[in-house]
Amino acid sequence: MRGKGAAQAMKQVLLRIEENVPLAREIWRMRLRGDVSGAERPGQFVNLKLEGCFLRRPISVFDREGDRLTLIYRTVGEGTRKMSSMKPGETIDCLTGLGNGYDLSRAGDHPLLLGGGVGVPPLYWLGKELRARGKEVSAVLGFNSREDVFAEEDFRNIGCQVTVTTADGSYGRKGFVTDALPEGTSYFYACGPEPMLRAVDRTAVTDGEFSLEERMGCGFGACMGCSCRTKDGYKRICREGPVLRKGEIQWEK
Ligand SMILES: Cc1cc2nc3c(=O)[nH]c(=O)nc-3n(C[C@H](O)[C@H](O)[C@H](O)COP(=O)(O)OP(=O)(O)OC[C@H]3O[C@@H](n4cnc5c(N)ncnc54)[C@H](O)[C@@H]3O)c2cc1C
Ligand code: FES
Repeated sequence: MRGKGAAQAMKQVLLRIEENVPLAREIWRMRLRGDVSGAERPGQFVNLKLEGCFLRRPISVFDREGDRLTLIYRTVGEGTRKMSSMKPGETIDCLTGLGNGYDLSRAGDHPLLLGGGVGVPPLYWLGKELRARGKEVSAVLGFNSREDVFAEEDFRNIGCQVTVTTADGSYGRKGFVTDALPEGTSYFYACGPEPMLRAVDRTAVTDGEFSLEERMGCGFGACMGCSCRTKDGYKRICREGPVLRKGEIQWEK
């Protein structure tokens, strides 16, 4: 799906909120409608202008279908709390078409999706596209506790083989996503907190790619605020990422 150097066509659009509902502890789902054609590939993100916030806030695309875009977000601070207070019918200023997205051509027959917490959302649209190509998709979704679990049914409904892990063992398998890696997979796609990604990097036996959710400034390549050290020098997560190949990232100590 993503060719090397895929051109990014950023669009600024006003999208109408259709739904904004809580899903789990501090986790919300927002459904938006309008010109969402800028969001072309799974793994891309949007950058939202929120009242009272100087900087836009990046959120991954959970799903895109027709003129609808779905986001799933955790309320952690001013911006995401503002988002959770918004009502259906209100509009939101949105930059779409940001980021490189996942490379579907490397998936092989049995790709594995590894998501931790709010690293889960970008993997859903990816899972859908992989299933549409006839792939046998496994998904391991990791959370801290039962109250944090979301999207499990969404992944099951598109035909993924789903395992849920919780760190405290209150739901699914006790442990981390790396404690539940299935055998026989062909390639992995991982998104989650950095300690999880490092652990995946150490334990995964196949090649794969990581989607990073660094703090951002401008969100479109102008400020270097999101730089990440790679073996080819610094890369901007918002522009050359957020998806980077296994072996490319030089994790900070
Ligand atoms: C490419 C990309 C995709 C993302 N996709 C999602 C998504 O699908 N769902 C989701 O819930 N979040 C996602 N995030 C993270 C999201 O952008 C931040 O949580 C959000 O910007 C916080 O804004 P705020 O104003 O609520 O919090 P702030 O007031 O800015 O910060 C509150 C607290 O959260 C911390 N924080 C802020 N941003 C980040 C971050 N990126 N990583 C770690 N800690 C952070 C701050 O240090 C602070 O402690 C993504 C980030 C990136 C870069
Ligand atoms: S956030 Fe400005 S360059 Fe990436």
